[in-house]
Amino acid sequence: PRIAVIVVAAGSGTRLGADLPKAFVGIDEHSMLRHALTRVLEGPSAQIVVVAPSGHEGDAITDVLAAAGDRRELVSVVTGGSTRQASVAAGLDALWGDVEIVLVHDAARALAPAPVFERVIEAIESGSDGAIPVLPVIDTIKRVDGGRIVAAVDRSELSAAQTPQAFRRDVLVAAYATAAEDFTDDAALVAAAGHTVAVVDGDALSFKITTPADLDRARSLVARHPL
Ligand code: C5P
Repeated sequence: PRIAVIVVAAGSGTRLGADLPKAFVGIDEHSMLRHALTRVLEGPSAQIVVVAPSGHEGDAITDVLAAAGDRRELVSVVTGGSTRQASVAAGLDALWGDVEIVLVHDAARALAPAPVFERVIEAIESGSDGAIPVLPVIDTIKRVDGGRIVAAVDRSELSAAQTPQAFRRDVLVAAYATAAEDFTDDAALVAAAGHTVAVVDGDALSFKITTPADLDRARSLVARHPL
């Protein structure tokens, strides 16, 4: 396929307080990774690379087999690193064939729906080097230093970044080859390499499951709309 999706699932999930890596925590009887893969597979046909925590590659393969069925030959599982950036790099190294567009997606955004995958791909096909889904910032934001407000920040200038984030493969590979610092998302890394990253509409369902309250929200959404 021309499109690849790297699903990063190698985080520990410390903030969730679970006793296993976050991607394998159940939303219902299915894990976050399984839900994320189901949505990825509802999107355009793509090669999929799952980046699993060291020691949990077998759990990832179990989810892949259950979610992908006879499309499993499009999916590979590799071992992640100690930072998200290292995990994405491991996923990039595992791409094969003539992929031209690479999406990077957090397994923790397990309910991100198929249309956002289509929107970021469409932006790359229309000529952007990179494209990410964003939502407007709802809260009033303050810049804080030393325990007090030092500036108000105009929230109309701000957007909250989500995944899947899409890039031309050559742009993303070159940006990773020169990236030094530890970036928290791929858009920042690609922008630091001098490229322009476009924005498309995000989706409230693409929230990142981080805290126990986020997990409760995901569970109630899935209970109303089972897999
Ligand atoms: O921790 P956080 O939820 O912000 O991580 C975002 C995504 O990056 C998650 O899907 C997580 O599994 C992944 N990640 C990773 N490797 C790491 C850290 C995070 O694949 N070392």
